[in-house]
Amino acid sequence: MTAPEIDIHGKRFRLFMTRDEIAHIVAELANQIRRDYAGKHPLCLIVLKGAIIFAADLLRQLAIPCSVETIRARSYGTEMTSSGTVQIEPPILELRGREVLLIEDIVDTGLTLRALVRFIEEHQPASLRIVALLAKPAARTLRVPLAYIGKEIPPVFVVGYGMDYAEAGRELPDLYALADATPGQSPQ
Ligand code: PRP
Repeated sequence: MTAPEIDIHGKRFRLFMTRDEIAHIVAELANQIRRDYAGKHPLCLIVLKGAIIFAADLLRQLAIPCSVETIRARSYGTEMTSSGTVQIEPPILELRGREVLLIEDIVDTGLTLRALVRFIEEHQPASLRIVALLAKPAARTLRVPLAYIGKEIPPVFVVGYGMDYAEAGRELPDLYALADATPGQSPQ
C-alpha cells in the first residue's frame, strides 16, 4: 500500500518513485554490473547507512561471487543540508588490491563521495567503481566518475528506501520528496 503523501517530523512529503520503479532501476543496474564484473570477485562496499536497502536488493540480483563490506559516512545529521564535514568509519576488510564496487544511495553535493574516494584510494585498490541509485545535478561536475547511475533526479530532498530525514523514513519501500521545497533549494 503506497500513500501518495506522508508527514515526517512535521514536514510534508509526496510520492516521488514507487517501489516498482525502483525495482526496475535496480534490475538494470545489476545487469550492467554483472556483465562488467564477469570472472572477477569484487569487494562490494556499502555506504552506511543510506545505501543499506539498495545494496541488499542489488547484491541479491548481481548473481556473481563477491565479498561484502560496509563503510560508514555521515555528513547530514538531522539537517536537510550537508554539514560539509564527512565523518568516515573505516571498513575492516583489506581494500588493497581488491576490485572495489562502492554502493551509494544518493549523490547530492558529492562531498561524501569525494571523501570516500580519497579514503579508498589511499588503500590502493586494484580498481574502484561507484554505483549510485540516485544522482542530483552536482554529481555531473564531480571529478569522480560514477560508473553506474540508476536515475538522475532534480535537487529535491528525498526519503525512503534507506534514505532518511533526521533518522526517520528509511524503512519506507517507496521514495518520497519534500513537498514544500522552494525552487533553487538543494537539500539532502
Ligand atoms: C547521505 C547519503 C549519501 C550522502 C550524499 O548520507 O546517504 O551518503 O548523504 O550527500 P552528499 O553528496 O551531499 O555528500 P548521510 O550523511 O545523511 O548519512 P546516512 O547515510 O547515515 O543517512
